[in-house]
Amino acid sequence: MHGLSVERIGHRWGAKQALDEVSFTLTPGAFCALLGPNGAGKSTLFGILTRLFTPQTGRVVVAGHDLARAPRAALAAIGVVFQQSTLDLDQTVRRNLLYFAALHGIAGREAETRAMAALDRLGMAERAGEKVAALNGGHRRRMEIARALIHRPRVLLLDEPTVGLDAAARAAITDHVHALAADEGLCVLWATHLTDEVRPADRLVILHRGKVLADGTAGEIGGADLTGTFLELTGEQA
Ligand SMILES: Nc1ncnc2c1ncn2[C@@H]1O[C@H](COP(=O)(O)OP(=O)(O)O)[C@@H](O)[C@H]1O
Ligand SMILES: [Mg+2]
Repeated sequence: MHGLSVERIGHRWGAKQALDEVSFTLTPGAFCALLGPNGAGKSTLFGILTRLFTPQTGRVVVAGHDLARAPRAALAAIGVVFQQSTLDLDQTVRRNLLYFAALHGIAGREAETRAMAALDRLGMAERAGEKVAALNGGHRRRMEIARALIHRPRVLLLDEPTVGLDAAARAAITDHVHALAADEGLCVLWATHLTDEVRPADRLVILHRGKVLADGTAGEIGGADLTGTFLELTGEQA
């Protein structure tokens, strides 16, 4: 299976149960929103999926590779955009991508070709020669997504990729990533606390206080009013 399987993951921070028996499975081509308010456990799950830390219980399988038993193969199949940006502001867009390609053992003409293809995919090709410092927040985020695609992952993880961006930039990025899932069969996990980034046809996993409260198609879970359903399920205020 070329998707992502999260199986009964549990993780504590001290006395705090940050994740409690979290399970879901994504197939290739799926765009899945991991929707949860602040503190739900989204970033803790991303840390586990990228092996920043080991979960206390459960297991993760990426593109058929068990993350604990075959970490190199599993991690090679993952592209990730973390909540905090990790770009080198003094370098050009192109340099940032080539550097990242080199980390994956991709160099020379192949690295150039892949970097330009990835930038093109995100509508960023004409920015290749600009310094990152000169880009606005939306373009920096798009560039980070392009960078995450360089090694041709099967699974793309994005942790609140639109935080701090204006509505137009948010919409552009949401559109781009939906297209990646649909056109290239990528399996996308998109963490957010914003219901307006979720489309009726999307897969939706609602996470709250470390537990999965709902898992299905966004349209089925939320009907005509996903925001209302989300607030009702989590007991949060609008
Ligand atoms: N490194 C950490 N040490 C201690 N507690 C943490 C740590 N990271 C997160 N937490 C706690 O775990 C819970 C889930 O946090 P987090 O995974 O960041 O949620 P989200 O990304 O959904 O906002 C919160 O209560 C948070 O305070
Ligand atoms: Mg977070």
